[in-house]
Amino acid sequence: MKAVLCKTLGPAQDLVLEDTASPTPKKNEVLIDVHAAGVNFPDTLIIEGKYQFQPPLPFSPGGEAAGVIAAVGEKAGAFKVGERVMALTGWGAFAEQVAVPFHNVLPVPDSMDLTTAAAFGMTYGTSMHALRQRAKLQPGETLLVLGASGGVGLAAVEIGKAMGATVIAAASSADKLAVAKAAGADELIDYSKASLKEEIKRLTGGQGVDVIYDPVGGELFDQAVRGLAWNGRLLVVGFASGTIPQLPVNLALLKGASVVGVFWGAFAQRQPEDNAANFRQLFAWHAEGKLKPLVSQTYPLAEAGAAIERLAQRQAVGKLVVLAR
Ligand SMILES: NC(=O)c1ccc[n+]([C@@H]2O[C@H](COP(=O)([O-])OP(=O)(O)OC[C@H]3O[C@@H](n4cnc5c(N)ncnc54)[C@H](OP(=O)(O)O)[C@@H]3O)[C@@H](O)[C@H]2O)c1
Repeated sequence: MKAVLCKTLGPAQDLVLEDTASPTPKKNEVLIDVHAAGVNFPDTLIIEGKYQFQPPLPFSPGGEAAGVIAAVGEKAGAFKVGERVMALTGWGAFAEQVAVPFHNVLPVPDSMDLTTAAAFGMTYGTSMHALRQRAKLQPGETLLVLGASGGVGLAAVEIGKAMGATVIAAASSADKLAVAKAAGADELIDYSKASLKEEIKRLTGGQGVDVIYDPVGGELFDQAVRGLAWNGRLLVVGFASGTIPQLPVNLALLKGASVVGVFWGAFAQRQPEDNAANFRQLFAWHAEGKLKPLVSQTYPLAEAGAAIERLAQRQAVGKLVVLAR
């Protein structure tokens, strides 16, 4: 099969497309003929050796895939050859085939095409868990989303609206904010031009926001935390800016506020039934037209490196998807 390979740790332009042996599924795995693979922020880190886990070299990057089952291990649950599925792979999805433990695989509903499915699991799974289990977002509350046109950010805008919140989208350009507006955001903040802290104050009449969804960190976190309402919740989702912020905890005391960590991968492993319930709701919202995942660009397998590079350069909106066939 053809696969994009990382043979030495380094930038995306060092990735190569080569013929390599197809993986053999273990007992608890299914083998997937990959149709499409979503590009995510961790792909930018794993090829540089900067992620939480590191596969041995050479490896194929790509953390999520959608496709059709080609083979089933003898202890791989009820999956069947020919079934349309989506999978969290960790790595290995930028290839024509990938083998995945069955508990990381979900059937794709008929209402969803495989390109969309490849762009859905990681971002919508993360944002649903963040807003439902971690923030316990209530209808009528105000949700501020930072990096609102990015993968997890745009999903948070849509899910926030589906849960009945007023959504303030914040991003670094007018073009990016237009994408968040089209996804349903009620108010917009361009933090490349205006002070995030002052805009939160202005838009909420000085009350602050009930929930902040932060996949960016750095200086934006410092400003946003000061715009939390009484009983507010700040969701720590990621650090796309590259800087892990520090919190003066007197701010939490003064606002009766909570700083809440979000780790969707661990949640999915530890609470599989809650994760499955989240996806039932997400698929239902998608079938009803309440969620419209944005795949802004697709790339052939040979150009997976260009897709990773675009995301790393802060130029992606919604999701980029690599087509394996
Ligand atoms: N906790 C979890 O379970 C979980 C799950 C999935 C992802 N994540 C994390 O969430 C973060 C976002 O992931 P994603 O896949 O949604 O990425 P993405 O599509 O690239 O979105 C990240 C957004 O962050 C903003 N940003 C600010 N500074 C940036 C920089 N220096 N480089 C790149 N982006 C920058 C950009 O928006 P503006 O230009 O508008 O600022 C961008 O749209 C990552 O840190 C990822 O590891 C966490």
